Amino acid sequence: MGLDVKSNSLEEFWIPFTDNRGFKKDPRLVVKAEGLYMTDHRGGQIIDGSSGLFCSPAGHCHPKIIEAVHQSMQQLTYVSPFGTGHGLSFALAEQVSRLTPDSMNKVFFVNSGSEAIDTALKIAMAYHTAKGENRHRFISRERAYHGVNIGGVSLSGLVNNRRAFPSVMPNVVFMRHTWTEDDLFTPGQRAGGADRAEDLQRAIDNFGAETIGAVFIEPVAGSTGTLPPPIGYLQRIREICDANDILLVFDDVICGFGRVGGKFSADAFGVVPDIMTMAKALTNGAIPMGAVVVRDEIYDVVTDKAAMGGIELFHGYTYSGHPAACAAGLASLAIYQEEGLFDRAKDMAPYFEQAVMSLSDHELVKDIRTIGMMAGVELYPHPKPGARGVLAQTEMFWKGMHVKFTGDNGILAPMYIAERAHIDEMITKFRATLDALPR
Ligand SMILES: Cc1ncc(COP(=O)(O)O)c(C=O)c1O
Repeated sequence: MGLDVKSNSLEEFWIPFTDNRGFKKDPRLVVKAEGLYMTDHRGGQIIDGSSGLFCSPAGHCHPKIIEAVHQSMQQLTYVSPFGTGHGLSFALAEQVSRLTPDSMNKVFFVNSGSEAIDTALKIAMAYHTAKGENRHRFISRERAYHGVNIGGVSLSGLVNNRRAFPSVMPNVVFMRHTWTEDDLFTPGQRAGGADRAEDLQRAIDNFGAETIGAVFIEPVAGSTGTLPPPIGYLQRIREICDANDILLVFDDVICGFGRVGGKFSADAFGVVPDIMTMAKALTNGAIPMGAVVVRDEIYDVVTDKAAMGGIELFHGYTYSGHPAACAAGLASLAIYQEEGLFDRAKDMAPYFEQAVMSLSDHELVKDIRTIGMMAGVELYPHPKPGARGVLAQTEMFWKGMHVKFTGDNGILAPMYIAERAHIDEMITKFRATLDALPR
C-alpha cells in the first residue's frame, strides 16, 4: 500500500501549511508507521518527536485502535447525527465526561480542533443570546493559535495565519501573550508575569464587560512554540471572568489528554474553564475528531430556552460523532487508562525537560521552554525569520526525526510510550541537525 513516488504525480495535491514548491522537488513521504517510528519512502527510520502533530501519545498504528475501528465499520459506516444516533457516540461522550471536571459533562462532537473552536464560539454566542444578553465581543491573545476556520483565524495571534485573509470576524480584542525576556531558558511555569492577566481587566474597562462573551486561551500556547502560563495567571483570568460573567474557554486541543501534566489543563493548572475544546489525542490521531465540552449550566440554559419539541442548537456537522471516530476515541481512552499513559507522561516529564534543556548551550538556540511532555526550542532566525526553521525541519527528517516547526520554533512533544533512550535519540538528532545547519 506504499505510495510509489515515481508513478504518482505530486502536482495535484495542494499541501496544507507547507512550502509546496520546495516539497514537491524533494518530497518527504511516510509509507508506514508503528509505535514511535515511521518509515520514509526511501526506507529510512524516522523517530516521531512531535507525536505527529501532538496527536498520538499511544504510538502509531496501535493494534487496539485499528481493531476497534475495523469492528465498528463492519456494523456501521455512517449514521446521520441529526435526529438519529448510534451507541458509540453516547458511550464516548460518557467516557470523555469522566475525564473532564465534575461540572463539565456535556460533549459536542466535531471533526477537528478548528471546528471545535468555531463551535465553542457559537455555543458561547447561543448561551448569551438565550440569556438575553448582547455579548458580541471576544477576547484572545497575541501568539494564539486556534485553528484555521474563520472563527479561529479571527482569534489568531499569529500574523502569517491572518495576512492573506482580511475578512474575518470583527470584535476580537487581544491581550498580550505571556512571554517576556525573563522567561529565557526557564523550564516550566515562571513565578513572575501573572500580572499580564490584568490585560483582561483593561479590555473590560475599555469596552464594558456586558459586551464581552468569552475569553479564549490556550493554557500553554502550543503552536507558537510552547509558552507555559506564569504561575497564578490562569487563576487571575478565572477571577476576572467570574466577576464579570464572561465565559472562559480553554483550548485544550494540544494541552489535553495528559500533554501538560494533568488529564486536561484544568487539572494541570487547577483552574476550571466553562468550555473546553479538544481534538488530536482524542482518537490518538487515528481518525479525525474533536469535541467541545461545556459546563452543564451552559447546556441547560441553551436547551431550556428553546421551545419544547424543536431543535435547541442550530449547529452540527454531517460527520459529528462518526461511528469510526467514536470507536477510535473509545479505544484510545481505554488504552490511555490501561497503559497508564498520563502517569507515564508525568513520570517522564522531568527527564524530558532536563534532556531538552541540555540543548541550551548550542550556538543556534535562542531560547527553550518546556512543560510536561512538550518543549519549544527556538532558533536564532537566519537569514530571515522562519527560514532556518523550514531548513531544520527538512534536515531533521533526513537525519531520522520528525519535529513540528512553527517559524524558527521546533516543538518537541514525544509520545507517552517513549522510553529514556527514545528521548536521548531525539535530543541527539536535534543537536546533530543544528550542527549541520548553515551559519
Ligand atoms: C490550540 C489549537 N487549537 C486549534 C487547533 C486546530 O486544530 P485542527 O488542526 O485539528 O483544526 C490546533 C491545531 O494545532 C491547536 O493547536
